[in-house]
Amino acid sequence: VFDKNTVVVVFGASGDLSKKKTFPALFGLFREGCLDPSTKIIGYARSELTVDDLRKKVEPNCKVNEGDDEKLKEFLQMISYVHGPYDKDEGYKKLAAEIEQFEKERSIKNPNRLFYLALPPSVFVTVVGHIKSNVYSEQGTMRVIIEKPFGHDLASFRELQQQLAPLLREEEVFRIDHYLGKEMVKNLMLLRFGNVFFNAAWNKETVQMIQISFKEPFGTEGRGGYFDSVGIIRDVMQNHLLQVLTLLTMERPASYDPESVRDEKVKVLKAFEPIDHNDILIGQYGKSIDGEKPGYLDDDTVKKDSKCLTYAALTFKIKNERWDGVPIVMRAGKALNEGKVEVRIMFKSICSGIFSDIPSNELVIRIQPSEAIYVKFNAKTPGLATNSQLTELDLTYANRFKNYWIPEAYESLIRDALMGDHSNFVRDDELDLSWQLFDPLLEYLEGPDAPQPEIYPYGSRGPAGLSKYLENHHYVFQDGK
Ligand code: BG6
Repeated sequence: VFDKNTVVVVFGASGDLSKKKTFPALFGLFREGCLDPSTKIIGYARSELTVDDLRKKVEPNCKVNEGDDEKLKEFLQMISYVHGPYDKDEGYKKLAAEIEQFEKERSIKNPNRLFYLALPPSVFVTVVGHIKSNVYSEQGTMRVIIEKPFGHDLASFRELQQQLAPLLREEEVFRIDHYLGKEMVKNLMLLRFGNVFFNAAWNKETVQMIQISFKEPFGTEGRGGYFDSVGIIRDVMQNHLLQVLTLLTMERPASYDPESVRDEKVKVLKAFEPIDHNDILIGQYGKSIDGEKPGYLDDDTVKKDSKCLTYAALTFKIKNERWDGVPIVMRAGKALNEGKVEVRIMFKSICSGIFSDIPSNELVIRIQPSEAIYVKFNAKTPGLATNSQLTELDLTYANRFKNYWIPEAYESLIRDALMGDHSNFVRDDELDLSWQLFDPLLEYLEGPDAPQPEIYPYGSRGPAGLSKYLENHHYVFQDGK
């Protein structure tokens, strides 16, 4: 079902996020027939660009499949451009005139407008205020997409919230956490609640420990200045990985309805124990062993004595009947030996009985790269002997779903916002709880008694204590990794 004649306004149209993510995602949707050709896309930014300049910026990042050249041309023609300041009415008035003319020509009574703020959070409130007074219509549907960071801590999040709340109703706000748009993250509910054997095993009786790990093979090259005030915990853990964690641990929602899903996420967040400051592993990358790759502190835009974390491992505990006693290790790092995001659920060992020393099952959900779900399980080695071996039941998407379109996270989320579906967007109370959970830890790590991060070489597995840390939290290494 398409909403025809929707207007999509991309604020920050000349910036990096729009160029790399927002416009290419809109094109991806158009290419796949999920964005109606009657849609009007307006870029808005301060730069005095022509519409052709903007189209030229957009084009190189659009993924064009064979035979789609005409579609790209058509898409680029759907884009127009308005330039103006973010903090004065003048540009918004031009924008309003352009939108109203479009809607008048089509006799639209109930306009459908989506405003995408690909902008730094410092201007969210200003821009939303100007949208409200110039480009907002009481009739029809007004939706606003904003991007993280949503505050720097609990206090600043609440302040942002207090400023935005009078301007927009909660159902008009779509807070993007792009991890919620990733195919494998969207798959978690189905995996858990749609498969009787996983569903039955998803609890403290069967699960020994859980790991959520995020590894990137590159450092903060080029964005050290920004990263230095953020650090790895705010960058990916308090948001992306915590979202994955809540989806993994929440109870079954009453339905797929967005509020039911988000209610369950909130409920489980309330059952988290405070993070134990004495049970963390923290690091910052130094030069690579061969000296080729720079250390974090070599970046000129970073404070020379910065203790900013580029690596952290934390352990969560949930005090409810399902999870009591099961450690959940979340670890994330930049400048590591590989790029990979995965969830690993280690099951308890089975009563050895007739077998001696049989390894435990493990379920791995690889979010990226190359989406996969596989279960490590024991099977008899074929032959006359009764030896067993740990092997895999493997669902690798590239093999099983060869001709499927796996939407990019932003494609999926923009489509949801166009359809008014909030399921994969973050609600205000979820964010409040996530800051409540992380605030004390961040305060400690950024306070006068902050411990010194361990330096690990660029391109390594991270701080040397990782294996020990995992073993302390009941992980058993089975294949020497
Ligand atoms: C962003 C972080 O939110 O997520 C980046 O700011 C990080 O530092 C990125 O690299 C990871 O996203 P993805 O989709 O590449 O895993």
